[in-house]
Amino acid sequence: MRRVIVDTDTAGDDTQALALSVLTDRLSVEAVTVVAGNVAFDRQVENAKYTLSLVDASDIPVYEGARSPLVKSHEHATEIHGEGGLGGDLFPETGIDSAEGFAPDEIVARCRESPGEVTLLCIGPLTNLALAHAREESLPELIDEVWVMGGAVECRGNVTPAAEFNVWADPDAAKRVVDAFDVTLVDWGLCLRTALGPDILDEIDAMDTDLADFFREVTTVVRERGEAGGLDGITQPDGLTAALLAYPELRERVESYPVAVDDREGLTRGYTSVDFEGVTGEPADTRVVEAADSEGFADAVLAMLRDRDPDAAFE
Ligand code: BDR
Ligand code: CA
Repeated sequence: MRRVIVDTDTAGDDTQALALSVLTDRLSVEAVTVVAGNVAFDRQVENAKYTLSLVDASDIPVYEGARSPLVKSHEHATEIHGEGGLGGDLFPETGIDSAEGFAPDEIVARCRESPGEVTLLCIGPLTNLALAHAREESLPELIDEVWVMGGAVECRGNVTPAAEFNVWADPDAAKRVVDAFDVTLVDWGLCLRTALGPDILDEIDAMDTDLADFFREVTTVVRERGEAGGLDGITQPDGLTAALLAYPELRERVESYPVAVDDREGLTRGYTSVDFEGVTGEPADTRVVEAADSEGFADAVLAMLRDRDPDAAFE
């Protein structure tokens, strides 16, 4: 069982990543940290707590982190996830208290306490991790692995032509993290290539479970947009990243490259430059998941929504 902190800007696909991370026996989620990103910060905190309660995991502490990016300002992604982040109609008030402490401090404390044992699953902008690194320079040595949903590798961006949302939202933090840590990237292009197709969505529509209801709710807008935009199905960037971390058997090709983030304001803000040819002479220390088993991923999602048991897809 891999020990994990999930760092999230909890909205649509983050909720599915959280649910999967909690429900799989392959991961042990020790804390959830919330970072500015998809929607209003306090909504994200409630969305995280609500998701944990749905999977009977309200005992997992939720720490509040950075309420804004390091330097630049960003826009929310309510047009993707709905006002509030859960499809537009669901605004939970759980009454659950946040854990005491600032998320970046907690990341540092937990990694110091168990050197080399905690993995970070980052499914939002990278502000919390950058702040944690500013507090503890040797964090890269104290951490087990860092998995990041972010970047656009050999594909167009989803928030600007050049950039993917999580990197675009806080490019200063992303640059710091990619430069300092040996990150594994699950980029937007891979998410498009592993989208859940109409047949999978039909199967989910036919399910009568709490988790399938929740999935349908949080994917309302993204589904309408996908249909309008010509994507046959929907992406699940954060759920995919969680699944790739939990189930190594889903990783079909992982290569290491030098990766650099453009932190400048302007047209290419948040662009992830991947040096496929090794022309920069920089170290190839960023792992990029280039191909994944999309059927296996879909099976894990179906098993989770049907029986709360994503691991059943791998038995
Ligand atoms: C990423 O941006 C967010 O809207 C999603 O939650 C995901 O983390 C995809 O670009
Ligand atoms: Ca996210």
